Amino acid sequence: MSSHLAAVMPTPRARLAVRPTATPEPARDEILVRVRVVAVNPVDWVVQGTSRITYRWLHTPAVLGSDIAGEVVAIGSDVTRFHVGQRVFGLATGTDRGRDAVREGAFQEYSVLLERLAAPTPDAWTDDEAAVLPLALSTAACALFQPAHLGLRMPTEQGDARTREVVVVWGGSTSVGLNAIQLARAAGYDVVTTASARNADLVRDLGAEYGADHHAPTAVDDLVAAIGSRPVAGAVALGAGSTDACIEVLRRTGGTRLAMASTPISLADLVGRRRLLPAMIPVFSRIGLATARSALRARHSGIRAGFVWGSSLRDDEVGPRLWGEVVPRAVSAGALRPVPAPLVVGTGLDTLQGALDRQRAGVSARKVVVRL
Ligand SMILES: NC(=O)c1ccc[n+]([C@@H]2O[C@H](COP(=O)([O-])OP(=O)(O)OC[C@H]3O[C@@H](n4cnc5c(N)ncnc54)[C@H](OP(=O)(O)O)[C@@H]3O)[C@@H](O)[C@H]2O)c1
Repeated sequence: MSSHLAAVMPTPRARLAVRPTATPEPARDEILVRVRVVAVNPVDWVVQGTSRITYRWLHTPAVLGSDIAGEVVAIGSDVTRFHVGQRVFGLATGTDRGRDAVREGAFQEYSVLLERLAAPTPDAWTDDEAAVLPLALSTAACALFQPAHLGLRMPTEQGDARTREVVVVWGGSTSVGLNAIQLARAAGYDVVTTASARNADLVRDLGAEYGADHHAPTAVDDLVAAIGSRPVAGAVALGAGSTDACIEVLRRTGGTRLAMASTPISLADLVGRRRLLPAMIPVFSRIGLATARSALRARHSGIRAGFVWGSSLRDDEVGPRLWGEVVPRAVSAGALRPVPAPLVVGTGLDTLQGALDRQRAGVSARKVVVRL
C-alpha cells in the first residue's frame, strides 16, 4: 500500500503534526485528488480546540480541513464527470459524523472527494483561488436553498427572472456571506447586506446593496430602511450577534425565515485556553441561554429559524445540483467569482498549524490558504 504525508491532529486539542498515512483508493463515487492548495475555515480551529465537546464523534488521529484544490489522479468506477489529470476543487467532509476523518480530510497530499461535491477548476482560476470556495459556497447554498432553511429557488439553466424579493445577508464580507450574495444574485434575488465600510465596495461589486456596517449601533435601522417595502425572502445570519439582529430585521420587514450559521459568541478565545473544561462551562452556558432566548424571540415573531450545517448538502439534492450544475454554469456566466481573495500564508504541510492560528486571529474578506 502506498503512503503520503498528512497534517494530522494526533489527539484531541493537539497541535497538527506531519505524519505518513495510507493513500486511499477512491470508492465508486469518489475521485482521488493530489491536493495542491487547501484553505482554512473557522471550523478547523474550532474542531481542533473543542472537538471533545462539539464533535464528540471525531476519533483521533484525524485530518482536518474542508477546502481542496488539486488534480485528479484516480477515479471510482461510477465517476463520469471527471478524468485523470483534470484540475478540480471540492468539499472534503471527513470530520462529519459517520465519515472517515483520515481518508477524507483536506490537510494532506492526497485526499478523496465525492464526485457530487466537486467541480472542474476553471482555466482562468489558480488553485489558490479555487481553494477559497468549497465550504463557504456549500454553506451559503445550504442556507439559501435547503427547504429547511430559506428554501429559495436555485439558479436555473434558463436564467432567472429578476424579482423584487430581498435576501438579507448579515455578515456579507465573511467567506460564507460573499458566496451567499453571489448565489442569491444568480438565482434572481435582490440582496441587502452588512459589512465593514472597508468592504462595502466588495459586496457591491458582487451585486449586493450595502445596507449597513454591522458594527454600527444603527445597523438594524439602516438595513430595514435599505429594504424598504420590498418583500423579504429570508435572512442569513453570519457572525457573532447576527441572529438577534436578523430576527429584528425580519420582524420589522415581515420576513419569516432565518438561517443561522454562527454561534452567538465566538469560540476563538475559548479555543486558545490551555485547560478547556473550566473555561468551557460559562461559555457554553452563555451560548445555550442566548440560543434559547433567540429561539423564543423568533417563534414569538412567527420566524422559522434553523442552524445550518454547511456539509449537509452531501446528502440531499442541493449538493449535486450546486456542484454539478450551478457552479459550472455560474462560472461561465461570470456570476461566480473566487471570493474572498486568497491570502497565502505558507507552503507545505508543516505551515498548516500556523495557518489555523492565523485564521483564528481574524481576517477581513480574505481566505487563509496554504500550498502543498
Ligand atoms: N454552520 C456551518 O456549517 C458553518 C460553515 C462555515 C462557516 N460557519 C460560520 O460562519 C461564520 C462565517 O464564517 P466564514 O468562514 O465565512 O468567516 P470568515 O471569512 O473568517 O469571516 C471574516 C469576516 O467576518 C466578518 N465579521 C466579523 N465579525 C462579524 C460580526 N459580528 N458580524 C458579521 N460579520 C462579522 C468580518 O467582516 P468585516 O471585516 O467586514 O467586519 C470579516 O471579513 C463563522 O461564524 C463560521 O464559524 C458556519
